[in-house]
Amino acid sequence: SWTMSSFVDATVKDLREQIGEDEQVVCGLSGGIDSTVVALLLHKAIGKRLTCIFVDNGLLRMNEGEEVIGYLREHFDLNLVWVKAQEEFLGRLKGVDDPEKKRKIIGHTFIEIFDREAAKIDNVKYLAQGTLYPDVIESISFKGGPSVVIKSHHNVGGLPEKMKMGLVEPLRELFKDEVRRVAEELGLPESIIWRHPFPGPGLAIRVIGEITEPRLDILRKADKIVQEELRNAGWYRKVWQGFAVLLPLKTVGVMGDDRTYEHVIALRIVDSLDAMTADWTRLPSDLLARMSNRIINEVKGVNRVVYDVSSKPPGTIEWE
Ligand code: XMP
Repeated sequence: SWTMSSFVDATVKDLREQIGEDEQVVCGLSGGIDSTVVALLLHKAIGKRLTCIFVDNGLLRMNEGEEVIGYLREHFDLNLVWVKAQEEFLGRLKGVDDPEKKRKIIGHTFIEIFDREAAKIDNVKYLAQGTLYPDVIESISFKGGPSVVIKSHHNVGGLPEKMKMGLVEPLRELFKDEVRRVAEELGLPESIIWRHPFPGPGLAIRVIGEITEPRLDILRKADKIVQEELRNAGWYRKVWQGFAVLLPLKTVGVMGDDRTYEHVIALRIVDSLDAMTADWTRLPSDLLARMSNRIINEVKGVNRVVYDVSSKPPGTIEWE
């Protein structure tokens, strides 16, 4: 639309002025729409003087890194560093089951790795990030995950002295729906524009209890089915978020003549405007039935699926 194309032009012009002629800028890519839009605006403004860092923490959904980063690599000539840090994250999370400890470990590890990578670039003067207006007015209270840590720690002086950087936040006056319109203007595909919000700590807070590779694997497979079925039924864009959660318990079932004792998957699908409040989505029962049948038939190790019918408040959207 007219307003969004003028937003893009004006922002690109402002960014060029703010950043200057020689300085380098670094930006963290998460795979979500906000950081992707920030990266593309900066790329338009300063081209290769922008370096994007994507830290793969091993806690992403199935193919998520490949989908978003692969797309950017194919379509834009970005300087893009893809850090494969799965082992570092999962190693430090070993044996940890407390949700806040998980968040802290993931947040600190992210900052450590991001700073390590950023320090390799000469003359970095700015950190670009996808702060939105609601973050600015702090109306969304995240639980202290990395997106918030990274959004705040540079302001509070958490970086080593030699790495003091200025902040570049081109989206700080926008709401989510406006970011989506800018993304359309920039030509991003629907699969990125309408991607559901995904928490910084990723699947770590959806594998309830200890995080292990086999448990992540079960959750990834179940979650993929939820995403597919939501899309196929035309419900993906109608809901705020929809995902699977792996519970830390096993229950009894039957298969043929045998008794099974396997994991439980909870489905969490909610309607919301801003994540402050939410209600569970009244999905058609045949869609729920399809998700349940597919998960139980296709995901080894799961014999039961339940639907979360709690609203927020008092329930939160995530289970941890
Ligand atoms: P809750 O569970 O608090 O979630 O109702 C509200 C929204 O925030 C997301 N969320 C997080 N995002 N780091 C993030 O970056 C976190 O630690 C975190 N915890 C929750 C959640 O997915 C929902 O969109």
